[in-house]
Amino acid sequence: MISKYADLKQNKDLNKIKEAAMSIKEGNIVLFPTETVYGIGANALDANAVNKIFEAKGRASDNPLIVHISNIDMLYNLVKEVGQVEQKLIDNFWPGPLTIIFDRKECVPNVVTAGLNTVGIRMPSNSVAQKLIEFAGLPIAAPSANISGKPSGTKIEDIIDELDGKVDYILDSGMVDIGVESTVVRVIDNKVHILRPGKITVEDIQTLGIEVIIEKQIMEECLPQEKVMSPGMKYRHYAPNTKCLLVYSDNQDKLVDRINQEIELEKNVLVLGRTRNLEKYNTDNKLDMGETSEEISKNIFTLLRKVDSYNVDLVIIEGVKKEGLGLAIMNRLIRACEHNYIEI
Ligand code: TXA
Ligand code: MG
Repeated sequence: MISKYADLKQNKDLNKIKEAAMSIKEGNIVLFPTETVYGIGANALDANAVNKIFEAKGRASDNPLIVHISNIDMLYNLVKEVGQVEQKLIDNFWPGPLTIIFDRKECVPNVVTAGLNTVGIRMPSNSVAQKLIEFAGLPIAAPSANISGKPSGTKIEDIIDELDGKVDYILDSGMVDIGVESTVVRVIDNKVHILRPGKITVEDIQTLGIEVIIEKQIMEECLPQEKVMSPGMKYRHYAPNTKCLLVYSDNQDKLVDRINQEIELEKNVLVLGRTRNLEKYNTDNKLDMGETSEEISKNIFTLLRKVDSYNVDLVIIEGVKKEGLGLAIMNRLIRACEHNYIEI
């Protein structure tokens, strides 16, 4: 297959988005931007089309997809009930980077939900994503755009090699805004359980007067047989081939000292650090993660994709405070480091 390509970086050419939407209607799959990461989308109501996504990504069939909608009527067609707490989340955070798990209606095919009786729904705020769904007139099932296990795609240059020729259409609108995937939540007994942290933070939800429970599996290693609330928690994700070590301390001096000790132990090291600390590391191989959580969140997947090209024995990554967007960054980094994590 030859992928069609539309450059929407300067000009959001509606005709191209319409063409891509027609392609989705015809049962094909399309690579498109959202505010979080790029997605690979298909008609969520067409099991054959959705199967093509699993093939393109090499994704395990027991890992369900998120369904993307552009208006609230689409939600009522897909789910049994919208409770009061869910409604509050919708009113405050949609459109935006929040996926809510609902009990699903029969019309949602089994491939989308991996056989679960629930479905994850989100209304993206990215204008190209919204237009794509609107023009298709269908809910679009879409996982992150990457081969399974790899970091999610935040710009086309990072993923073109692994996905070119596997999708019918590529909509390129440049770098995404956020850089980590949506927050995934499920409401049980009026409490919001965080299944995957993201840009909509624990603190954002607590501000609404809602009780929040952070699932412990977010930061811990799951055993293969363990029952998890979100199947995605079980899989190896984001990890480069090179061994990675994550180091965190509240105290900047201690953090830098510890990383320099680790550099002494290994000869051939690459450090991913914050701008302010970078010059303090005793190695020539270093990459700038940025300074704020927003910057780090935008850069992190591109950086993780680069590290193997350095051919080092160890990558040492600076951790951030597990607060606000920092919780999402640490969730991704702990997985990238396969739980090789030191906190001082
Ligand atoms: O920001 C995002 O959410 C991006 C963009 C493209 O929208 N999508 C994304 O999809 O990250 P994916 O497939 O890479 O991750 C979906 C996560 C997985 O961890 C999956 O297990 C979980 O959501 N999930 C989906 N449906 C679920 C359900 N019914 N119950 C529990 N977890 C679910
Ligand atoms: Mg993914």
